[in-house]
Amino acid sequence: MTAKLAVVVLAAGKGTRMKSALPKVLHPLGGRSLVECVLDSLKEVDPLHRLLVVGYEANQVKTALSHLDDITFVEQTEQLGTGHAVQQVLPHLQAFEGDLLVLNGDVPLLRPATLRHMIEVHQSQQNEATLLTAQFLDPTGYGRVFCNDDDIITEIIEHRDCTEAQRQNRRINAGVYCFKWSALSKILPHLKADNDQKEYYLTDVVKDLSPVMAVDVEDEQEIQGINNRKQLAAAYSILQDRIKDEWMAAGVTFLEPDTSTVDITVQIEPDVIIEPQTHLRGQTVIGAGSRIGPGSLIENSTVGQGATILYSTLSDSQIGDQVRIGPYAHLRGQAVIGDNCRIGNFVEIKKSTLGDHVNAAHLSYLGDATLGHQVNIGAGTITANYDGVKKHPTVIGDRTKTGSNSVFVAPVSVGEDVTVAAGSVVTKDVENDCLVVARAKQSTVPGWRSQRYANPDNATK
Ligand code: UD1
Ligand code: CA
Repeated sequence: MTAKLAVVVLAAGKGTRMKSALPKVLHPLGGRSLVECVLDSLKEVDPLHRLLVVGYEANQVKTALSHLDDITFVEQTEQLGTGHAVQQVLPHLQAFEGDLLVLNGDVPLLRPATLRHMIEVHQSQQNEATLLTAQFLDPTGYGRVFCNDDDIITEIIEHRDCTEAQRQNRRINAGVYCFKWSALSKILPHLKADNDQKEYYLTDVVKDLSPVMAVDVEDEQEIQGINNRKQLAAAYSILQDRIKDEWMAAGVTFLEPDTSTVDITVQIEPDVIIEPQTHLRGQTVIGAGSRIGPGSLIENSTVGQGATILYSTLSDSQIGDQVRIGPYAHLRGQAVIGDNCRIGNFVEIKKSTLGDHVNAAHLSYLGDATLGHQVNIGAGTITANYDGVKKHPTVIGDRTKTGSNSVFVAPVSVGEDVTVAAGSVVTKDVENDCLVVARAKQSTVPGWRSQRYANPDNATK
């Protein structure tokens, strides 16, 4: 964009109809909060100033957005309406010359291209105000937009202030506006609260600006506002359709897309197959040709190429190429798995690093462990990493095989090419190339049962 632009997002309201302890604008939608979705819609317009009007639970909102360093928070201590909210930015934009984009913090599905288009119309037509509108089949609750024949707006009347005849107008105000700041800043201080809610309405300024132009959105789903949980669910489903449509266009297969969800923050390479009931969240990346699901949840994790993950849960982990996981594995807390590994049924791995070609196929727990390459973890192998106070590490060298049901009492280190006998409880470090048997010797008493049973004194009375 060439001309100067500032943005203000209105996010001071409580969101009473959400019935929530969380401020409305912090409710999550596909990996980001509602207000983060709104801020992301600014991608193509590159504003000079970003202001966010906060009020209800202002500190909670500020903390949740503290990772964004280019935002100025403006406090509206009493929520006296959308016009009053925009009045709060006056002291911050005294020297500003350019256009002010105003967005409601509860309209999260706007496309960046839609905003860019609206601003282009605003600037090329030299309007004093331009706003997004749509024709809604059910316009209940929205402000109605009244125009003359050329999309020039004469008035906006809130639903509750409309007469029955005015309510028949289906053209609604989306709550997305671009103003010539020099014109808006002059009339903002003179707003009056003479309406049903006794609030200062931003929409009242259109009567004092000229020209004010309406731009209809092509896809009216974009301007759905969130006032309650039902609208939140509807917005989530619209967002999910958009995200999955984009990945399908980019070469990803979804079997039963309606049963899977993908956060906006996820990256998927081509020829990935997403089986039913699979959920990909947070900063997750899935490598080319991998097959995920059915029934898997992957959060903040990287999966290499050609991997398969079946009925499993992964969080904060890194998986190499050609790894096979599941069914029913749980990897978490920085599990790092090398290439060509096999992590099987009922295996839990926490904060552990495994080299390439490691097998842990059945019923194991590996926590705080470092394994070399080609290690074979026998069924039921456990690292006893916690002494009740601290966690301790286990190290297992290349090509070592642990016997079924062996326990490694950490801290303990086992070398390369070691064979651990089944049922061992390994408490001491082991050198390379050893056999370890760490269990009670078997003792066998021949004829034990027949002798006892032959003696009548032993018979049950
Ligand atoms: C507003 C518009 C309406 C439009 C609708 C679109 C007005 C008067 N009405 O109505 O024409 O159809 O949006 O979604 O503007 N907020 C503040 N401070 C306040 C009041 C509100 O920051 O004092 C924020 C809210 O947090 C919210 C946004 O402004 O993010 C909109 O407020 P809301 O009360 O939801 O307005 P609507 O009744 O939906
Ligand atoms: Ca609203």
